[in-house]
Amino acid sequence: SFVVKANQPTATVAPTMWGLFFEDINLGADGGIYAELVKNRSFEFYNPMMGWKEEKRGGGEGSLLVHNRNEINPANPRYLRLQVKSDQGEYGLINEGFRGMGVKQGNQYDFSVMARQHEGSNLALTIEVVNAKGEKIGGATLTPSGKEWEKYSVSFTASATEPKAQMVLLAKGKGAVDLDMISLFPKDTWKNRPGGLRADMVQLLADMKPGFLRFPGGCIVEGRTLDERFQWKKTVGKPEERELIVNRWNTEFSHRPTPDYYQSFGLGFFEYFQLSEDIGAEPVPILNCGMACQFNTGEVVPLDQLDPYIQDALDLIEFANGPATSKWGKVRADMGHPAPFNMKYLGVGNEQWGEQYVERYKVFEKALTAKYPNVQLISTTGPFPDGEEFEYLDKTLRSMTDARVDVIDEHYYRPAKWFRENATRYDNYDRKGPKIFAGEYAAQSVAIASPDNKNSWEMALSEAAFMTGLERNADVVTMTSYAPLFAHAEGWQWTPDMIWVDNLQAYGTPNYYVQKLFSTNAGTNVVPVLRDNKAVTGQDDYFASATVDKKTNELILKVVNTSDKAQNANFVIEGIKKLQGKGTHTELTSQKLDQVNSFAEPKAISPTQKQVNVKGNTVSMLLKPHSVNVFRIKTS
Ligand code: AHR
Repeated sequence: SFVVKANQPTATVAPTMWGLFFEDINLGADGGIYAELVKNRSFEFYNPMMGWKEEKRGGGEGSLLVHNRNEINPANPRYLRLQVKSDQGEYGLINEGFRGMGVKQGNQYDFSVMARQHEGSNLALTIEVVNAKGEKIGGATLTPSGKEWEKYSVSFTASATEPKAQMVLLAKGKGAVDLDMISLFPKDTWKNRPGGLRADMVQLLADMKPGFLRFPGGCIVEGRTLDERFQWKKTVGKPEERELIVNRWNTEFSHRPTPDYYQSFGLGFFEYFQLSEDIGAEPVPILNCGMACQFNTGEVVPLDQLDPYIQDALDLIEFANGPATSKWGKVRADMGHPAPFNMKYLGVGNEQWGEQYVERYKVFEKALTAKYPNVQLISTTGPFPDGEEFEYLDKTLRSMTDARVDVIDEHYYRPAKWFRENATRYDNYDRKGPKIFAGEYAAQSVAIASPDNKNSWEMALSEAAFMTGLERNADVVTMTSYAPLFAHAEGWQWTPDMIWVDNLQAYGTPNYYVQKLFSTNAGTNVVPVLRDNKAVTGQDDYFASATVDKKTNELILKVVNTSDKAQNANFVIEGIKKLQGKGTHTELTSQKLDQVNSFAEPKAISPTQKQVNVKGNTVSMLLKPHSVNVFRIKTS
């Protein structure tokens, strides 16, 4: 039998223990959680008409010409001039959406456009949403009468549900009109925010009660080149003033070419902070440290020219935490959030390695500590938890005496077996050194990012086994997140991923349910679970960890059985005077290790719960083969 020493807490579980990693990869933001349905709404893609094509009806004739006003509007240089050249019919264009547009019957859709009518013109616009056969399923009309740029809006309700809708924009009358920021959003966004996020996707995140939200990535922070790096200041303010850039996941390194992958930054830093707040997660931004992605160009900024990068970091803290009267605090307040976001963590760089990282980190650290000594700094250790680069950086960061490192961000994308064999990874980590952020991890069934790399039960089960080791070592490991988070079924570059979406649906993988089981059953203090006086770290294929929750007075026990045998196990709970007679047993299991969830069967693997009786201080549970089990009981 197993013994739980419920009155011998060994470590405090950080409230940030189980969190989320967000990156705009796999159409995670544009085409994903950012609910904009129009692709290339401001004609700024490399090919300005990507996603658009000409449309003529009833003999309509005209021309479409992209204009560039870079000199006066460098953040949003291009717009479209639509000229009608016939009295008959209608003339205009169609937008194909990201992979089509998901439209739902009975939902309201809000169309908007920046427009100016030319002198002597009287063009009226018709907006239509059409299904895959080209039949109208919703629409409205609008006359942009002003001669100066102005925003026009109109709403309509869809009469049918369609995963592959397109949007038609037609002009009728005489003359020309200039168009920019042509946009269509569903009204039912998260919290019904205009121009907001897909509610079904955010809900899946909120349900996890995550401890933190790390954003905006990943490699996207670094960019393929420094010019293409993520620059947070260009992602705040009015959406039409946010400078779009190519996404680092555009085409390259992709099994499904995505030449249309750009970052509109409609989901920008303000929205990331707001999302964190909405779902009760600590915001954890990661900034570029003066190095481009070392898997790509690996460009670095000369050490004596790091100032703008460091200024970005200092200004970000002011944006998040400064008073509404400060320069960057005012930008936040003007966007609708006068109160500070109370950001406590900042990451410097992602998956960087070599001496060049250490040199740059030290410059950041000095400047940040001088002004904001209380913001916890997260440094990074290269891509994988072994190999020369990792060893070098890990050792250097740990032993650094001339700079502060609060948390080290480790990443591991390894086979399932590695996760089962590494449940003891942190048992011998230095308790006095920096804390650990397991910032990106996922078990791989085959090669990283390949089409056959599946979110199968074996992967999730092995991660659960490993996660008991993270929890047992909560004094060292204070932040963890699975990665990547989202993937669009028709636009991914990386597998496996925690949540899969298409234009209308979103479902959690078995890995999602493992993460959710841990994050919603975190507890506040670790207590030992022993078998033969030893921690349960894979002997006979059992893995276990336990916590108590001092806020709710509960004991929470997690047991993972990775074997193919069922076992009736007894858990003796020591040190609790008055145990309740009943607890709950939540079980996540599948008898097929290759079982996955899917759009057709989104909950093929999902938790079930039952009551269990406690006799004296012993609870008996049937641990099914290949199962993750959470037992919860009141302790007073
Ligand atoms: O999660 C996908 C990628 O994996 C991240 O962008 C990067 O940090 C890592 O290599």
